[in-house]
Amino acid sequence: EEKYSVPVRPGYIKIENHILPKKYLEFKKAIDDLEVSDTDVFVTGFPRSGTTWLSEMVWLILHDLDYENAKKHLFERLPLLDTCFLFDQRNVPHIELPDIVTNTIERFKNKPSPRSLRTHLPFQLLPKEIQYGEKKPKIIYIARNPLDVCVSYYHHSSNLYFTGDMDEFCKLFLSGRVNDGPYFKHVLTYWKLRNQPHVLFLKYEDIKRDMGKAIQNIATFLGKKISDEEKVALQKHLSFDSMKNNAAVNNKNFDEIIKLFKMPSPIVPFIRSGKVGGYKEELPHYYIDIFQKWVEKNLEGTGLTF
Ligand code: A3P
Repeated sequence: EEKYSVPVRPGYIKIENHILPKKYLEFKKAIDDLEVSDTDVFVTGFPRSGTTWLSEMVWLILHDLDYENAKKHLFERLPLLDTCFLFDQRNVPHIELPDIVTNTIERFKNKPSPRSLRTHLPFQLLPKEIQYGEKKPKIIYIARNPLDVCVSYYHHSSNLYFTGDMDEFCKLFLSGRVNDGPYFKHVLTYWKLRNQPHVLFLKYEDIKRDMGKAIQNIATFLGKKISDEEKVALQKHLSFDSMKNNAAVNNKNFDEIIKLFKMPSPIVPFIRSGKVGGYKEELPHYYIDIFQKWVEKNLEGTGLTF
């Protein structure tokens, strides 16, 4: 890890030992002080771990499989808190960023119960009421094998700000310098909370293997009943191909916005390949060994496996 230590990139800050865009500071107080309720649902996970997939799953279960309203964009139904500081209007004065991207905190505040919110923020930066245990909204976390996360994040970052190659991105990832990194600090902090009754810790690989089981787990966790037929229909709706073609979740419009930030190279779709172990085809070979040792070292004694 130290071997690959690289400085924090310009435009980013280190806060609570995590890397975030500087713009986060403009929203920190509002996020810290956000009043939450035990009936709220927070969908969390490191970027590129399957949080969009999980959010669509959670929203539909929470809203009794309301497919009609699920036609509205996911950002509207289950806002990604972080977009308010991820996208900076000053970088794109020639386009108007939509309110569902810039105004996520207020939008969440004004939602009727049960409210839901997605965030990639580490636990230490969630609203204070959650951190101090004063309120216990439901927290559903998704973790994914970091090798697949890194590859996926590289492609996604190349759409946004990152101009380097995969090799350079791996160094940033291993040294915890990517947005929301370090990866293990993020995952393991939530992992430690997994046995609390208001926390559900899931793995991307398990959901891929048995989506029906994941749906059942989430339904039970949210106190919802779901029949076998409903489960089958939901699985179909949440399949990779269906999500990829669903404009309400595939972020195609946002890909277009993102494209205006920079973009010499062709855009990589947000819902890209959805594979377990896809890193084997893409991660430079000499990195696989380095990554695996790094994973082993960090997971030792934690009980978490991928
Ligand atoms: P890949 O780039 O490996 O394809 P997030 O939403 O947290 O940013 O995660 C994005 C990752 O989740 C992408 O991974 C994306 O393709 C994958 N994903 C999205 N919907 C999916 C689905 N229905 N099934 C499997 N993977 C999905």
